[in-house]
Amino acid sequence: MNNFTYHNPVKIVFGKETIKKLSTLIPKEAKVLMLYGGGSIKRNGVFDQVMAALKNYTVHEFSGIEANPEYETLMKAAELVKKEGIDFLLSVGGGSVLDGTKFVAAAVKYTEGDPWDLLDKKPKIKVKEALPIGSVLTLAATGSEMNGFSVISRRERGEKLAFGSHLLFPVFSILDPETTYTLPESQTANGVIDAFVHVMEQYLTYDVNAPLQDRQSEAVLKVLIEEGPKALGNPNDYDVRANLMWCATHALNGNISCGVPQDWATHMIGHEITAEYGLDHAQSLAVVMPVLIDNRKANKKEKFTHYARRVWHIIKDGDEAYAEGMEKTVDFFKQIGMKTKLHEYNIDKTGFENIANRLDARGIKLGEHQDIGKKEILEILNACY
Ligand code: NZQ
Ligand code: ZN
Repeated sequence: MNNFTYHNPVKIVFGKETIKKLSTLIPKEAKVLMLYGGGSIKRNGVFDQVMAALKNYTVHEFSGIEANPEYETLMKAAELVKKEGIDFLLSVGGGSVLDGTKFVAAAVKYTEGDPWDLLDKKPKIKVKEALPIGSVLTLAATGSEMNGFSVISRRERGEKLAFGSHLLFPVFSILDPETTYTLPESQTANGVIDAFVHVMEQYLTYDVNAPLQDRQSEAVLKVLIEEGPKALGNPNDYDVRANLMWCATHALNGNISCGVPQDWATHMIGHEITAEYGLDHAQSLAVVMPVLIDNRKANKKEKFTHYARRVWHIIKDGDEAYAEGMEKTVDFFKQIGMKTKLHEYNIDKTGFENIANRLDARGIKLGEHQDIGKKEILEILNACY
């Protein structure tokens, strides 16, 4: 096992009717900005619950944060924060609203230039200060509720970039599974896939004799496989929603990555596919992950066979186990309604070169062995088609 330091300060408040606890979690004197998306929280009652819990606070609102949150929009929120002297940010929504809130928290304290520097400068600029953030999560997917990462899009430039800091961990996250009942099927499926791929990118590398992390990863994968399809058939099943929500949090709160190699190539390529073609985050992942594993089969075969045995109970060995494990994985993606090839999205291949060039321009190779460069990215994209 590799050395590691693990620190996760996020207070999780989980369960039914927990939104009312907001008043015990936000300092009484705080001047709060509540940030949200396109209005789902107004339709499902979450907005009213939050407002009732904050009735004794000074609360401003900022709405309209898009899926794949947009820099231009967030800069408007940052202006509002400065103008009103806001000192606490409350994200109410899915991963996009929360990631956007993290960007605003850092942007308002960044005085050395355009806050976009925090995402695109090389070497990376550290966040030195940020406003405190709280989160009421309404979509189980990203793990943003218990990590310090954020992914922001800048459509005008065709960019989607990530940044992170220990200063961007939410102070608390309220996870009420009932808030996820109103998710459209496609977003529920997206969430299952996002969490699934998060686990795979921290697990499907090579063995470093870390059986606890392996079994923790396998546990999350198995629960996602068991519960995901149930949520589609029965969206108001509390236990199913609760299990999915907790799985998604565990998939990216730093726990399963302790001391093990990681491979974020599927996410890196997926982010570029979203920037180029506008696919949802998880739609890009469902297409790329199986192809990327196949492309890197020489490195990943051993761990994939182990995964096939542990997660899918395949008793065969070698290539047969690999092939059957891959078939089961792709069938699972299809079972919950994901497309697994790019041509199904009616896009053409003209953007592939842009994607490969943008990743290449960052000067780093992807994968746990840093062996995925421009040539391999183009191979992967073509095989995704
Ligand atoms: O905007 P509203 O009206 O709220 O609608 C949203 C949005 O259209 C809707 N929604 C959310 N909760 C709902 C609901 N609709 C009905 N009922 C509810 N309870 O769902 C749509 C998608 O929401 P979004 O927040 O975009 O989804 P998700 O949570 O999957 O977040 C995706 C973003 O997170 C980034 C992705 O790249 C993408 O930008 N990621 C963030 C990560 C992190 N911070 O650690 C890691 C991930 O790998 C990922 O990259
Ligand atoms: Zn993801």
